[in-house]
Order: sequence, then structure tokens, then C-alpha cells
Amino acid sequence: MEVIIRDTVEEVSLLGAQVVAQLLRQKPQCVLGLATGRTPLRLYRELIRLHEKEKLDFSQVTTFNLDEYVGLPPGHPQSYHFYMRENLFRHVNLPPGSTHIPDGCAPDLRFHCFEYEEAIRAAGGIDLQLLGIGSNGHIGFNEPTGSLNSRTWIKILSEKTLHDNASHFATPEEQPRHVVTMGIGTIREAGHCIVLASGAQKSNAVKAMIEGPVSSMCPASALQLHPRTTVIADSDAAARLDQLEHYRWIEQHKLGWQKYS
Ligand code: GLP
Repeated sequence: MEVIIRDTVEEVSLLGAQVVAQLLRQKPQCVLGLATGRTPLRLYRELIRLHEKEKLDFSQVTTFNLDEYVGLPPGHPQSYHFYMRENLFRHVNLPPGSTHIPDGCAPDLRFHCFEYEEAIRAAGGIDLQLLGIGSNGHIGFNEPTGSLNSRTWIKILSEKTLHDNASHFATPEEQPRHVVTMGIGTIREAGHCIVLASGAQKSNAVKAMIEGPVSSMCPASALQLHPRTTVIADSDAAARLDQLEHYRWIEQHKLGWQKYS
């Protein structure tokens, strides 16, 4: 794994946005995998700024989101459809029809999962997948002990994740316990995975992902088997890593073309 550590979440987000923007400029017809949650919010704001100020062009881009809550319609403020519309889609020139998010209200959810996988394949696969990480090491909504080869499917959230995300919902009854998420196997087929992590509450998960064994107890650790994963963490999220000095050493000695900034 490539591990990049920055002092602040601001720097993490701007570097993440820079990686996305670089891909859009090199490959205008790219396929982006997108994530939700608090972590990528600042990255999306920077992409919007680049679109407005530097004409970053999304007109030929196709997107696939990682996950969605079962039972929340697209207009629900806590749905990931709503999140993506408000935080990115309506601010940039992505053509309607080029964005894809699992439909948590599909009449036949199981069939929908197969269709979603097929749509990713038909688009030629994901070039760059953005990821956050849950405090229990989940990516997408793939919770600990799930298969590290899973495909897009309906999953049940763990009590830990429900607790972590409870503040988004007015009452516990409103919070869905089921989700549709790309599987770990789906995520691992992306050409490049970028994991953003910030804050001390992620430090155990970040350590397990990078330096722990590959284990379904930390689903993100499956990315150790991925040929090209970049973790961008702020110093709080990176605080428990044993090899901090090594990652800094590697970054200092990168060849020009290996650097992002
Ligand atoms: C959420 C999402 C993940 C996200 C993670 C961390 O529940 N399904 O895609 O990466 O949990 O969220 P946050 O960035 O808000 O900490």
C-alpha cells in the first residue's frame, strides 16, 4: 500500500481531490467510484471549486457509488442519493444518466444487485475508487467477518456502525439496518483505490488496514492484496501506525512521476 500522511484533514482532502482531478484531465471518459460519509465532503467541495474556477470537466465521466440504505427513497435527506446530489452532482457538469447509486428501494433488491455489478462491467470497470473507512474497518458497508471476495449485495449493519452513524438520524427507528453495498470483491477490481482517513477515532482501523493481517475482522485490510491502493491519512488517523517513519521516508524518496504534488 502507498501510505501518505498529512497534518490536517484539509490537506488530506485537497490531495485526494488532486488525484481525482489529475485522472479527469488525463482520461476525460474515466469511471469514478464514489463514497459518502463525512470524510469526502471537503474533497467534493474542492472538485466543485476546480469545476467552477478551472473548468474541470465531468461531461464524459461515469460514476458508481459504493452503497445506499435499504428503504430510503432518493429524496430522503439521509439517503446517499440525496447526499451525492447536494454535495457533488448538482454542482458539476455530470450528465444525467451517467451517475449510478444502488437503489435501496428497488422492488427486487437481489436482482438489482446483479444489475449494478453488470452496469459496472458494462462501463468498463472503475478506474478510481474513493473510499472512507469505518471505525471498525468497514469499507463501503462491508462489515467485519464478511467475505473478502463479496460482490454487490444486501448487508446488515453492525451495532458499531449503527452507533457511529446514529447522529445522522432523528430517532433510532428511522435508521435503516440494511444496506446495498458494493462487495469487497467489487471494490478490489477498481484500477486504483484511494482511502481517506481522518481523526483519532479511525486510528485503530487505519493501523489494522495497513499493518494488520489480511483478515475479515478488518475488511479494509483486503486492500493489502490490491495492486494499487493509496491511503491518505491525517496525523490523528495515522497516529497508531508503527512504521510512520518508513512511510515518510518512502514519500521523500519518490521519483518525480510517483509524486502527486
Ligand atoms: C459510512 C459509509 C462508508 C464511509 C464510512 C465512514 O457508513 N458507508 O462508505 O466511508 O462509513 O464514514 P465517515 O466518513 O462519516 O466517518
